[in-house]
Amino acid sequence: MPAVNKICCSRLYVGGPTCAVIALKCPHLQVTIVDLNKARVDAWNSPDFNLPIYEPGLEDVIREARGRNLFFSTDVDKGIQEADLIFVSVNTPTKKSGVGAGFAADLNYVELATRRIAAVAHSSKIVVEKSTVPCRTAESMRTILEANSRPNCHFDILSNPEFLAEGTAISDLFSPDRVLIGSLQTTEGRAACSALAEVYANWVPKNNILTVGLWSSELSKLAANAMLAQRISSVNALSAICEATGANIDEVAHAVGRDSRIGSKFLRASVGFGGSCFQKDILNLVYLSESLHLPEVANYWRQVVVMNEYQKKRFSKTVVDTLFNTITGKHIAVLGFAFKADTGDTRESAAISLIRDFHSEKALVHIYDPQVEREQIWADLAEANPFTLLDAMKKRVTICSSALEACKNAEAVVIATEWKEFRDIDWEAVYQGMNKPAFVFDGRLLLDADALRKIGFKVTVIGRGEKL
Ligand code: UDX
Repeated sequence: MPAVNKICCSRLYVGGPTCAVIALKCPHLQVTIVDLNKARVDAWNSPDFNLPIYEPGLEDVIREARGRNLFFSTDVDKGIQEADLIFVSVNTPTKKSGVGAGFAADLNYVELATRRIAAVAHSSKIVVEKSTVPCRTAESMRTILEANSRPNCHFDILSNPEFLAEGTAISDLFSPDRVLIGSLQTTEGRAACSALAEVYANWVPKNNILTVGLWSSELSKLAANAMLAQRISSVNALSAICEATGANIDEVAHAVGRDSRIGSKFLRASVGFGGSCFQKDILNLVYLSESLHLPEVANYWRQVVVMNEYQKKRFSKTVVDTLFNTITGKHIAVLGFAFKADTGDTRESAAISLIRDFHSEKALVHIYDPQVEREQIWADLAEANPFTLLDAMKKRVTICSSALEACKNAEAVVIATEWKEFRDIDWEAVYQGMNKPAFVFDGRLLLDADALRKIGFKVTVIGRGEKL
């Protein structure tokens, strides 16, 4: 079995937390996270722990391991040369143009990273694909490495997908449901697999470390995300039926989830799922199915995304319909911009679609989120409204520094992200400051609707057929 003493990891959201936890749990290993982006590396190294991502518990991990056996560097080549094992955890965004645009993963960064490893490595390495990739990407990586490497260098490719969710990354990493490692079923492949399994075995029970074939491992990541997202789209489809019939989606989800075969997780109706993975991975699966000439399978998975788009549109339409069919010139407070609570990440956030819809109805939108940076909000809104100049948008969109400020003089408050602090706002004070009738639209099943109604609010909750 190859000995692993030094690990190198190439950047990105999952790369940082994962390798930081490996360093924490394996003080005998040296872990270096490399990234060409100097600003990001500086942030990881910042003396006041001003880290580039917000993740509960991450700072404590960095405080303990950084400088001990965890290092952040821009010297990518040195990182590669020194490591026995390299995690390739680069971005695989959805392609914006060319074949498969809008569906397929852009593997350019994976290929560039692989070519770089082949070009600079002087010794044999285990290369671990950590980015979410379509099935059989490891095969391409192997071909590139073999065609370009020095004669005495041997590369073993493993797939080790990351199942952590943002906001709970550190606790997910501390006690993962499972660690999945895929390898070629050759003697060398199995030995490389055991070497990586040994690293995780420092804190993960052996029973939770699953070793499978390379292609199964790659497909399992897409499959897990597609099935999780499918549950949300299913419960969101039911939320529409609840609203039309007077049923209550919380009660329905609870009753359904008590069936142990179904289980209660990922059955929370919402304004729609967001995040960097679900939509991207499903579209990837759609593309893969189409490439394999399985159109029915492709359509089946596509419908999960179609349902999600419908849910977002349905919610913004409810707001317009309820506010007497027009929100032009009306003041709407949007509380939350991140794609879920406990993260500053906004990728594919439902809030972006809602605000785009409100903006096109010429409403005045006031946004507050406890974690998302102002520049990020403007960048996301600019991307979602390519035909509107930012200056023109700023005339009708305001970013506020508190929920109370955002709600002042508003006609309606929309809960777009389930931040706990929104539950604890002084809703009496919000009510006093709003125009009447004062509407609340809870897109996250977060608030106590009855308590708000007692104050005087007219409340609409996703998936509840009850009257305002
Ligand atoms: C997801 C997967 O959970 C994780 O395993 C994978 O590695 C990466 O993608 P993440 O995108 O961080 O993680 O967030 P997740 O907690 O899964 O939530 C995704 C979206 O679904 C969020 O917008 C969330 O608000 C929404 N959601 C989640 C619901 O609307 N209802 C639910 O019941 C659960």
